Parts: sequence; structure tokens; C-alpha cells
Amino acid sequence: MNGKLYGIGLGPGDPELMTLKAARLIKAATCIAYPMLETGTSFARSIAQDHIADGVREIAIEIPMSVARKPAQDAYDKGAEEIRAVLEVGQDIVVLCEGDPFFYGSFMYLFSRLSEDFEVQIVPGVNSVSACASVVERPLVARSEVLTIVPATLPADDLSEKIANAEAIAVMKVGRHLNKVKDILAAQNLMDFAHYVERATLPNQKAMPLADAPDVAPYFSMILVSKGNDPWL
Ligand SMILES: C[S@@+](CC[C@H](N)C(=O)[O-])C[C@H]1O[C@@H](n2cnc3c(N)ncnc32)[C@H](O)[C@@H]1O
Repeated sequence: MNGKLYGIGLGPGDPELMTLKAARLIKAATCIAYPMLETGTSFARSIAQDHIADGVREIAIEIPMSVARKPAQDAYDKGAEEIRAVLEVGQDIVVLCEGDPFFYGSFMYLFSRLSEDFEVQIVPGVNSVSACASVVERPLVARSEVLTIVPATLPADDLSEKIANAEAIAVMKVGRHLNKVKDILAAQNLMDFAHYVERATLPNQKAMPLADAPDVAPYFSMILVSKGNDPWL
């Protein structure tokens, strides 16, 4: 009988924001997999580290830092084949995912390659949008407001249009797109409604009005905008 594939959401960074189910499954795992940067670091593994038992087999899926899709697709192909080999000998495998696995999570690329052939269980996690709203102490959406989530990687025109048509907004994947987002928000007179958060819930988190944000943002950063269309006060 084949093993079972688990996609485990770990939350946004603070290990205490992991669910009890995630912690239990990680502790019981004999084989784990996780995405790793070319630098050899894995954010997902670092969140889960206190729960990983000694002697567990580890499959690190090295994801290239490239804008092109093909190198990452090749990496997921390779990682999926390694995971397939484990599942085919009847061993379960736990895939560690920062945040929630199905919210811009890399687990989906393994899921798409393996879910037709193996039993899968996904454990949801606290996503980064909720975490950032908690950090800036601003409700994400109130009453009849609509939340729009946009990746900062979109072309400026597209991003600008989506922001103009939105009510409450979470801009993800800010990183090197920070100045593009700032320019768009300034042009729409939204700077006073925007908050910047980086590394939410981690010891080195930063949170401030966007106007006071540093000039350089890490990949793990987000901008939340609330136009106040339906005030919650
Ligand atoms: C590939 S997505 C992963 C999202 C994740 N699966 C989730 O559920 O939130 C990466 C983006 O999520 C956001 N993000 C994830 N963790 C974050 C954190 N701790 N603080 C701020 N932003 C975070 C950033 O915008 C980052 O560029």
C-alpha cells in the first residue's frame, strides 16, 4: 500500500501559530520535505524545527531564485519524483509549507504532480494576510467591504487598475516591487491608508505606516490598504 502525502501549513513564522494538528503530524513524521533556497535556508523548516524528530529523512527541494517559471517547474518535477519514490514504498511524507499550503503556497505544485496517484491530506495554516492585519492592529475588512489580494509582481498598469477598483487591499510579494507599489498608491492618494509589514510574527518583524517604510523590502513583506469605505468604528 502506498504512503500518504501530507501538506502541512505552518503559519506565518511564529512557531506558536502552528496548529496542534500540524505539530502532531510533524512530530510523528519519519520523512519530511520542504522548499529550500539556493542559499541552503528553508523558512518552512525553521518554523517547524522544534517538532522534527532526530533521524528523520529530509528531502529539501531547492527552488531557484529565478523569475522564469521553467527552472522552478524543473525543481518541483525533481522534488515530486523523490517524494513519489518514498510514497511508493509505503512511507508517509509530510511536506512543510509556510503559511497556508493553498494560499500562494508552493505545496500546490507538488499536489498537482502527485494527488492523482496518492492519498493526500492538507492541514490549513494561518495565512500571512491575517497575520499582517493582526500585527498592524487593523481589521482587514469590515461589514460589506470586499478584500482584494494582489501580488506586487503584476505589471504596474494592471496593479494600478486592480487597486483603483478595490476596497480593502493586501499587496503580497512586495520585495523588490516596493517602489512600484508606493508610486501607485501615492498617485491614487492612498499613502495615508497604507501599512507596511515585514516578517510578521517573527522576532525581527517590522510594521509601520507605508510612508515610513524602509527603501528596501524583503520578500516576506506585505502592504495592507484600507480605504475605509465601510468603517468599522
Ligand atoms: C509565496 S507567498 C506564500 C504565502 C503563504 N503560503 C501564506 O499562506 O501566507 C509569499 C508571500 O507571502 C507574504 N508573507 C508570507 N509570510 C509573511 C510574513 N511572515 N510577513 C509578511 N509577509 C509574509 C509575503 O508577501 C510573501 O512575499
